Amino acid sequence: MDKGRTNQATQMFENLGGILRKFIFSILSIGPVPSHIAFIMDGNRRYAKKQNLIDGDGHRTGFSALMNMLKYCYELGTKHVTVYAFSIDNFKRSPEEVQSIMQLMQEKIEGLIEEESIVNRYGIRVYFLGDLKLLNKPVRLAAERAMGATAKNSKAVLSICIAYTSLDEITHAVQESVEEKCDEIRVLNTSGAGYHHREHLINVTDIEEHMYTAVAPNPDIIIRTSGETRLSNFLLWQSAFCILYSPSVLWPEISVWHLVWAVLDFQRNYSYLEEKKKQA
Ligand code: FPP
Repeated sequence: MDKGRTNQATQMFENLGGILRKFIFSILSIGPVPSHIAFIMDGNRRYAKKQNLIDGDGHRTGFSALMNMLKYCYELGTKHVTVYAFSIDNFKRSPEEVQSIMQLMQEKIEGLIEEESIVNRYGIRVYFLGDLKLLNKPVRLAAERAMGATAKNSKAVLSICIAYTSLDEITHAVQESVEEKCDEIRVLNTSGAGYHHREHLINVTDIEEHMYTAVAPNPDIIIRTSGETRLSNFLLWQSAFCILYSPSVLWPEISVWHLVWAVLDFQRNYSYLEEKKKQA
């Protein structure tokens, strides 16, 4: 078959896939639709090994899988997507691997704000969450540019956790809450009013307001590929009432069917989880 015909055939299958997806999503939308889905993209290197590719190509294919998954989530009507792109612990990998992932990140982050990108097609606001000062300068600047360029988008939100761990996020939030309270106390004391509520210096709401993830509601579903059921220091504070789905496929192999399955599981447990949230 010549190249033109192959492209035509691919286009036809994509269109058919789109129609089928629309149909399935319209049925799913009769039930409650998750407003926030988070992903732990596990298995890129194993995928590369399985396909006899270099590790970098595993991550590249992983990025394409992420773009597809974003499209499906936003088509379904899920407003918030959060991904665990790089943990603080990942900096302990070999310098060559860290360097190669950072280069890929920079390239992909810059691509996110190009005219024809998924971010512009779906009106997505992008956040980078984590201790961004741990990133090298080009990646940090690219992340800041992407956040600035998408700041006015409001249809959907993509939060990319990079240089992130939950323990770091919680420590940072407690630290900021305490500093804020100390400033308040200082002002009250200098004005002569004094501060009298010493028992609860800070509370849960104070801490939550200072979380990196305060930009999104708590996740309804966390999907971790490769069959792993650990959260690995990701959204530990936010996941108390959340469905965890861990299909055995490696991240680059994830498909729309895994998303459908996770949403069905969420819908099956919806009333129970809502009840538990009310009791908390
Ligand atoms: C985990 O697989 C994946 C990563 C550490 C990096 C994933 C990064 C991307 C897909 C690029 C994302 C870029 C943007 C801008 C969002 P692994 O390396 O731990 O694989 P393994 O579990 O097989 O060892």
